[in-house]
Formats: sequence, C-alpha cells, structure tokens
Amino acid sequence: MDIRQEFPIFNQLVNDEPYVYLDSAASVPMPLSVQQRMTHFMNTDYANVHRGVYTLSQRASDQYEQVRQIVQQFIGAEKSSEIVFTSGTTASLNLVAQSFGEYFVQEDDEIFVSVLEHHANLIPWQELAKRKHAKLVYMPVTQDGYIDVHKVSFMVSQRTKIIAVTQCSNVLGVCNDIDTLSDLVHAKGGVIVVDGAQSVPHRHVNVSKYDFVAFSGHKLGGLTGTGVLYGKHKWLEVMKPVLFGGDMINQVDKFSSTWAQVPYKFEAGTPNILGVITLGESIKWIQNIGLDTIDKHNRLLTEHLLNGIKDIQGLTVYGTTDMTLRQSIVTFNLNPIHPHDVATGLDMEGIALRAGHHCAQPLMRYLNVSSTVRASVYIYNTLDDIEQFIIALKRVKEYFK
Ligand code: ALA
Repeated sequence: MDIRQEFPIFNQLVNDEPYVYLDSAASVPMPLSVQQRMTHFMNTDYANVHRGVYTLSQRASDQYEQVRQIVQQFIGAEKSSEIVFTSGTTASLNLVAQSFGEYFVQEDDEIFVSVLEHHANLIPWQELAKRKHAKLVYMPVTQDGYIDVHKVSFMVSQRTKIIAVTQCSNVLGVCNDIDTLSDLVHAKGGVIVVDGAQSVPHRHVNVSKYDFVAFSGHKLGGLTGTGVLYGKHKWLEVMKPVLFGGDMINQVDKFSSTWAQVPYKFEAGTPNILGVITLGESIKWIQNIGLDTIDKHNRLLTEHLLNGIKDIQGLTVYGTTDMTLRQSIVTFNLNPIHPHDVATGLDMEGIALRAGHHCAQPLMRYLNVSSTVRASVYIYNTLDDIEQFIIALKRVKEYFK
C-alpha cells in the first residue's frame, strides 16, 4: 500500500518548500479511503440515527452501531455497550469526572494525577476535588519524565479513589506503566482512568485492565468532534447522565424521567453521525496497515530525528531519549531562540509543527520553561521529511545567530 497516495494534502509546496507535516500528535489528516467512505455514506445512506423506521434511517443506524463493534474489537472491550461516543477525549474525561467522580469520590478521598497530564485530564479532576473537598495528589515523575510507579506504590491507600493518568504524554512522548498503576489502585479498591489520546493511534491498547479509557477520532484519521469513552459496564450502569434530551431517555413524564440503557443514556441529541462513520473507517485503515507497522515506522523516524538534532548547540530535548520508554513525539527548545520563533522559522521552510505549552502548563513549570517546540511523526512521514526538518532547524539556528 502506498500510504502517501492516501494524503494528497502532502503533495504541495508551502513557502516554496515541500510540505512536511510534523504535528500528528495534534491531528492526523483524513486518508482518502476514509474520505471516500464518508462521501459514500452521505450520498447513499445519510439519515438521522435511532429515530426513523424508514429504510435509510435503519441503514444509517446499523452502520453507526457497527462502529461501536469495530471500536470494541479494536480496544478489546468486553461489550460494545461499553463504548460511549463523545465529541472527543476532552468530553470523555469530563464525563467520567462529572458523573463517575460525583458518584465515587467523597470528602477527604484522594485523586491521583501527574504533571504530565493534558489540561483535559487535569482540570476536570481539580474541579471535582473542589466540589467534593477531596485531595488532588501528584504522582512523582522521574528525571526521564515518566511516572515513578515505585514511589506511587508507597502513596496509594484506601483513600485513593481514582488514578487519572495519561498513557503517553502529549508533550514528552514518554509512556507510563499504566498496568502497574492499575494494579496498585485496584488493590486499594480504586479505579484507573486512562487518557489514551496519544497511545491509541500508536500501539495496541487493551482496555480490559482499566476502568475508563478516553481517546479521539481525529488523531486516528477521522473527523474532529468525535471521540470515545470506554467504561466498564458496571461503572457505566451506576453513572448518571450529564446531558439530557432526545435519544437518552426511556420514559419522560411531566415532572421526571428515566434513562435509556447504557451507553445510550450518555448520548443525548443527534450524535456526530459522520464522525462515528469516519471513526470506524479510520480504525479499519489503521488495522489494514497494522499498529505494529505503524509503531515500527514511527520509532525509526523518531530515532533518526533525535540523532539528527542531538549535536545542535543550544538544543535541549525533554524527556527520555530511550526509545523503549517513549514514542514518536520529540519536544525541544533551541536556546536562546523563542519556541514560537523556531516554529515560525520552520514554517518558512515548509515544516508544520506546534510550539507553545501544549495544554500542559504544570508540565512547562516542572520543566522550568514557558513553552517548547514539538515535532511528532506518523505513518505517512518519510526519512526525507526528517532530513528536511533537520536541515531546516540548522538553518533557523543560523538565521537567529
Ligand atoms: N491535544 C492535542 C495536542 O497535544 C491537540 O496537540
């Protein structure tokens, strides 16, 4: 399969240079096959789901529900009803904090987080802790940038109700030992909530050991505004909906109502039908290539990138460079040039990447910086892309000298 052919967007010059996209940690452009599936659905089957008895509404509903099974199989969930469609990782994590957190966390309980968390897996827990008068506890992070599970093992107690943790950091690219964290918290009767936004597109994630896992469709090549919350059935059962309206009810009376079964009680209103259809197709696209192939390719390019920039004077790479502990996100600064100037300079060379705090301000403070530059690769990147990036970065350094 020629993967580049699936992405006509890369066949262009940007600022007179070949376009090199190194921002896949933010979003993965939609492959042609996924676009074609979406267009086909719109032109042949489009209708609202779960509402009409007419043929096309049935067809649309069937295809929408098939994606639940595709996701179930992709992440190893026991039941398709454990898959809740949301608008993205952020909505999934907010739903867990607002609904499950409200039910499960009491005064003086502890919620474990880390400085590695994206704001989406931090602020909902801050707010819950405030509402419940619970304690937010920060798990220690090693010098290399991953959670020190050994130290955490001495911190967990019967009070530890939730560990909310990113599997792989969206800034450092380091991946945490979430299986051990899961064992630690389960041994005390608590649960683990995993932010899988950066891991699910890159590696086999089997959700069976975790209570909740959140991820987004657009980082898999689907539409934006689409996401998944995996939740263990027993937890979804006890959780109250936080959005009320159409499609999530069993019966509505004048003064009270009852809810539809799991997962529909969490999917109020007309859902993101196209988003879900593209999510299913993008998962098929990934499975066709194979997550192992994707992981191997991304690692090779990331190693090449790290080797190519390591001797540039003034350059600091954050987080471990040990490829067994990380994946394909490289975050760096090129002192004394401001990260936004580095990113702007690279844009002039056709390179697209992200500079800023990456929605992880506590981590920026921990690293003692205000912002960084982040390059992230995916299956469509080539060694030529990496070469162009390395040369461009050296040019930016010269330019600012
Ligand atoms: N969460 C996405 C990122 O890290 C947008 O860039």
